[in-house]
Amino acid sequence: MNRLAGKRALITGGASGIGAAIAERFSEEGARCIVADLDGGDVVCDIRSGSAVTAAVAFAATALGGLDLLVLNAARPCVGALWELADDVWDDVIATNLTSAHRFVRAAWPHLVAAKGTVLLTGSVVGLDGSANQAAYCATKAGIVMLAKTIALDGAPYGVRANCICPGFTETPMLEAFLAGQDDPDAVRAYATALHPAGRLGSPRDVADAFVYLGSDEAAWVTGVALPVDGGLLAGI
Ligand SMILES: NC(=O)c1ccc[n+]([C@@H]2O[C@H](COP(=O)([O-])OP(=O)(O)OC[C@H]3O[C@@H](n4cnc5c(N)ncnc54)[C@H](O)[C@@H]3O)[C@@H](O)[C@H]2O)c1
Repeated sequence: MNRLAGKRALITGGASGIGAAIAERFSEEGARCIVADLDGGDVVCDIRSGSAVTAAVAFAATALGGLDLLVLNAARPCVGALWELADDVWDDVIATNLTSAHRFVRAAWPHLVAAKGTVLLTGSVVGLDGSANQAAYCATKAGIVMLAKTIALDGAPYGVRANCICPGFTETPMLEAFLAGQDDPDAVRAYATALHPAGRLGSPRDVADAFVYLGSDEAAWVTGVALPVDGGLLAGI
């Protein structure tokens, strides 16, 4: 308990799934949190909108009196091979999953420098290894991994850390929607489960616990990593 005592956090996508578990775990550990989400939370924010991002950061920094932890977690899935994707779909995935990170970090930067804060980004195992039929999603998650590394490099002189957490298949509404879109959801669920040597899918709290560690002062010398939290999925064949 109290591993995040006194920390002030802005969490995107915190109204559901992994983001909601991050908000819950952060609060349990003594952080004060503002959740920004399209659908609920403390501040309604479509992260595809530059003005909404600026407003959400200003709201959080004012409400909390600064920002120690910027958690960029909201994202959208996208099914399809590269040649199947229309321009508007591609553009929306890039805007939601990647451009939003640029805008949030830019808007929050003075607060993060003042607090010697930390940026935490939600990647994916499919940002570290490919996955069929998810070209745009995988590309954005690989981009998020590299943003964590470059924020870490550029932020180190200011005392700002950045890390990326890469979940395996995790039991959230996003996963349920993905499964519901399959011809045989039960078979795909069984296949997905079998990919994880641990023998089960992840829970949102499994993933949120890694955010607690990387957001805490226990990780003071950890920056620029992309940490799989995946029941061993990426450990090998
Ligand atoms: N569930 C998984 O298996 C899994 C695996 C790897 C990575 N991830 C990543 O974890 C993160 C959280 O996903 P989840 O599984 O908890 O999904 P989720 O659907 O439960 O939650 C996503 C949240 O993001 C919000 N959101 C989506 N688009 C938004 C927008 N334009 N502006 C503001 N908010 C928006 C939604 O309203 C929702 O509250 C995402 O980055 C996702 O890519 C999920």
